Amino acid sequence: MDRSSAGIRACFFDAYGTLFDVNAAARALASELGDSWQPLAETWRSKQLSYSWLRSLMGQHVDFWQLTGDALDFAMEAHAVAGAGLRQRLMDLYFNLACFPEVPAMLQKLKRAGLVTGILSNGSPAMLEAACRTAGLDGLLDHVLSVEDVGIFKPDMRIYRMVTDRTGLPAAAIAFHSSNGWDIHAGKTFGFHAIWINRSGQPRERLPNPPDLVLHDLTGVPDAVGAAA
Ligand code: LAC
Repeated sequence: MDRSSAGIRACFFDAYGTLFDVNAAARALASELGDSWQPLAETWRSKQLSYSWLRSLMGQHVDFWQLTGDALDFAMEAHAVAGAGLRQRLMDLYFNLACFPEVPAMLQKLKRAGLVTGILSNGSPAMLEAACRTAGLDGLLDHVLSVEDVGIFKPDMRIYRMVTDRTGLPAAAIAFHSSNGWDIHAGKTFGFHAIWINRSGQPRERLPNPPDLVLHDLTGVPDAVGAAA
């Protein structure tokens, strides 16, 4: 446990890319998509995020499910990917994404240590409910918070405030985990103890308020927040 993590009482997690593997949908159809699966997955994800930021700035909110479909349409056209029922199958796979392998045991350790657990995500309530059910995480999360309750996407500070409002805990008692560097800088700006899960070895973001800690995956989280068995 690093010194600054003393007093952590809750652990919140970003969903897509952090708990759930956003590349899993296109990867599942790799035999059909061939070499295109990876560029398709990358464009799909980057458009999904940029549409979330752009729509928030434009004041033109739609939920993350519609936005994910819009981003997929762009990505399929950009990479000239087409096929019978392909869009629907990719969307169905995205709705029921698998979690990363270390997630269930990590959450179990946090619960055993008596910590409050939760998700804070752009995802719509229906998407998050389906993903948690598919991954078998239902009993391991005390809160599943969707931006839909506010109607704007991360990194608007009102989204991070949902966690303190719902838990009644001060921001400094909450460890926030995300594999998205920008999400972590925003969470730190709000006042969370911020742990960047840098799964893909990205360079540090040139943004204000860097993370307190950087991990490669979620395995080390219980130790980092003083909840190791
Ligand atoms: C989320 C996106 C940012 O789950 O990954 O909020």
